[in-house]
Amino acid sequence: MSVESQAQTLLKLKDKYLVPCVCHFYKDPPVIARGEGVYLFDTKGKRYLDCYSGVTVMSAGHGNPRILRAVIDQLRRLQHTTTIYLTEPVLRLAESLAAIAPGNLGKSFFCASGSEANEAAMLLATLYTGRHGFIALSASLHGRTKWAMSATGLDLWRTDARLLNNVYHAPHPYCMECPIGETFPGCAYACAAKLERHIQDAGPENIAALIAEPIQGNGGIIVPPDGYWHQVRNLCDRYNILLILDEVQTAMNRTGRWFASEHWGLVPDIVTMAKALGNGLPIAAMITTDDIAAAYTRPGASTFGANPVACSGALAVLDFHSSERLGERSEARGAQLLQGLQSIAADHPHLAKVRGKGLMIGVSVIDAGANPDAARCDAYLERLKDAGFLAGKTGQHRNTLTFMPPLTISETEIATLLDSVAEL
Ligand SMILES: Cc1ncc(COP(=O)(O)O)c(C=O)c1O
Repeated sequence: MSVESQAQTLLKLKDKYLVPCVCHFYKDPPVIARGEGVYLFDTKGKRYLDCYSGVTVMSAGHGNPRILRAVIDQLRRLQHTTTIYLTEPVLRLAESLAAIAPGNLGKSFFCASGSEANEAAMLLATLYTGRHGFIALSASLHGRTKWAMSATGLDLWRTDARLLNNVYHAPHPYCMECPIGETFPGCAYACAAKLERHIQDAGPENIAALIAEPIQGNGGIIVPPDGYWHQVRNLCDRYNILLILDEVQTAMNRTGRWFASEHWGLVPDIVTMAKALGNGLPIAAMITTDDIAAAYTRPGASTFGANPVACSGALAVLDFHSSERLGERSEARGAQLLQGLQSIAADHPHLAKVRGKGLMIGVSVIDAGANPDAARCDAYLERLKDAGFLAGKTGQHRNTLTFMPPLTISETEIATLLDSVAEL
């Protein structure tokens, strides 16, 4: 008689007790029990190089001793009050974020997830402008709450059948697979021109803001062509609408800069962040200018928003990123991984379109006719897992193998990952 594996037992519990929207990778999933640095370990003791960081969360590595110490010290001192009491960690964190945020963004609001941060940013944009419409991009992901899901372009994540109808989607800037069939640079930013047409059609007097990821994550690691953000910033200024950048995936050195907007000298009006800000602690924020923040005066408390443990942890995260120069490491290791994947893809029948910035990199998996091949992508993920590498999957067609390892990853570890991808 066969003995049921631990994974099979847990899958039965999952089916019985979790809402079925909670899905997971792998036909034969490992049971992850422990994390240390860039590695995860399953309950059988098998080691995996974490190439996805819990979707770009664990940028400073698993079980980071400096962050753990700050968290444990804070847990011992004071675990929770709420924003109605004055505490220091949230104010020190807000001060630190103001020091690294683009332009004169210096006023923060804290909450617990990326969805909430985007919801807060969209609320703020309506309060400031008095308008209620939004422009968003196709292939985007902004979260599970009503406004954030309405702004989400990826059909996969638009579960609600009655999403808000005053959020208009313009084509995303993906030159490798242009959604409007154009070719860059001859198109002269046709996608930005379409975006302008959406603003005009809706009437700029009805649009509060454009919300977009500077580099789309779940949409398949979509890096816009240079000049795109300049065009879009100009459009926002011309039509007097705000620019909200969702940096939930990209902030905190994922792309080699504190914020991805820095690659293009772009200064948004509101930036949202989450994920790597807490390195595993649930904390998120939006940050904006004094002028825009002044529109939000009615009470807007978030119970866990300024949690002292999460804020102390995030302060330790920022400190670790600075002292260990994680931005530079992301850039250097990202260049190594990008070049390595490009040379593998050059001779590989099923890997193509390597793209990314810093340690945020995607590779399309294609069939013999160069069409997206989601089934093969799943098979590759399974094979990489068996070889000891946990990679991610993104993209409109779910055929983008995605690599976003902790930024502490070494040159040798990237080389071992490349060796395994070359075996696919
Ligand atoms: C760009 C982006 N924005 C928002 C979200 C939603 O964040 P959360 O899951 O923390 O609510 C995600 C989640 O992956 C995301 O990738």
